[in-house]
Amino acid sequence: MTNSAFKVHLQEMRTVIEAALVETLDRSEWPNALKSAVEYSLMAGGKRLRPVLVLLANEVCGGRQEDAIPAACAIEMVHTYSLIHDDLPSMDDDDFRRGRLTSHKVFGEALAILAGDCLLTLAFETIATQITGAGEINGLQIAEQLRILASAAGGSGMVGGQVLDLEAERGAFVNLENAEMHIQHAEKHGCESGAAAVQKAVDSADFPNVHGETSTSIPDFRQNNSNRTTASRVVLLSQIHRMKTGALIAGALELGAATSSADADSRNRLQHFGHCIGLAFQIADDLLDVTGDQTKLGKKSGRDADLGKLTYPGLLGIESSRAKAEQLVQEACDAVADFGDRSRWLRELARFMVERDH
Ligand code: IPE
Ligand code: IPE
Ligand code: MG
Ligand code: MG
Ligand code: MG
Repeated sequence: MTNSAFKVHLQEMRTVIEAALVETLDRSEWPNALKSAVEYSLMAGGKRLRPVLVLLANEVCGGRQEDAIPAACAIEMVHTYSLIHDDLPSMDDDDFRRGRLTSHKVFGEALAILAGDCLLTLAFETIATQITGAGEINGLQIAEQLRILASAAGGSGMVGGQVLDLEAERGAFVNLENAEMHIQHAEKHGCESGAAAVQKAVDSADFPNVHGETSTSIPDFRQNNSNRTTASRVVLLSQIHRMKTGALIAGALELGAATSSADADSRNRLQHFGHCIGLAFQIADDLLDVTGDQTKLGKKSGRDADLGKLTYPGLLGIESSRAKAEQLVQEACDAVADFGDRSRWLRELARFMVERDH
């Protein structure tokens, strides 16, 4: 298989997804200002990686692509809403996104917030109202897709991660008990990205020998910040990244499996793949913020340093961060190796997600 074959397949999937998004917007009956704001951000040409992951996971499990389209559109809507809100002055305060001025710069803060709200609710409506000609999707399957999306997007997933990301800004976890509480909450509610992920990060020696330190146990988040080791900060950072970004990416894989009749083993393999590339993707994003070209990125670089964000390159340097991302991609590819040739596109995409320049 050639790299250009992968690019062609990727483009085909993007075309299908964008057509479905346009169709959904065309059917909407909203005030003009809201429609303009939603369309401005949703149709601004993002990479569409999350919906592509939904389609690929569906394909690997032998599903029908048409059954995966509503969930694919829904996850792109949630992702786009998360970007609009992430850019707000009260969050990352960014002026550019997807090669354009950010939503609040063009439409004002109130409409940007409401466009995000509209996309979030539209996502659930898109899944809930799907109808297939063959009638093969039943109410229980729709409920399962809604549950997966809600759990990936909410307090144990993306939104919770965004809270932790903001609290970690400027190197000071002002409220470490709060961070620990969020993580324990995630654990209590069975979120894979909770303490299990922290333990996993530790078990896989997330960063052994970082500045001569080896992490062998779950760090005590109540430690005074200045006493916290680099290794324990990395475990905390990996948890933030797994929640704010990894949860939606892992959710995309889960949705793809749920739109086919995947068995438990296939679901587990895809979930493992999703958790690995979810973290790897945000490490790549952190790296691009340092090394990337803002014209290609479509957003301003250097913002993480401006804001004092806790990031992988900030903690570990560029080379160690790259090595970690590559190690995670390898782990992701190994997790889906048993699918054989059927998982070739997924493996290609995993590589693209960390080797990209935009
Ligand atoms: C950017 O995501 C935000 C992160 C979670 C790192 P993408 O890099 O997938 O953004 P788009 O969708 O291509 O614009
Ligand atoms: C964003 O992370 C994660 C989201 C949930 C949107 P970043 O704040 O690093 O994303 P960019 O760099 O602004 O795209
Ligand atoms: Mg952010
Ligand atoms: Mg941001
Ligand atoms: Mg970033």
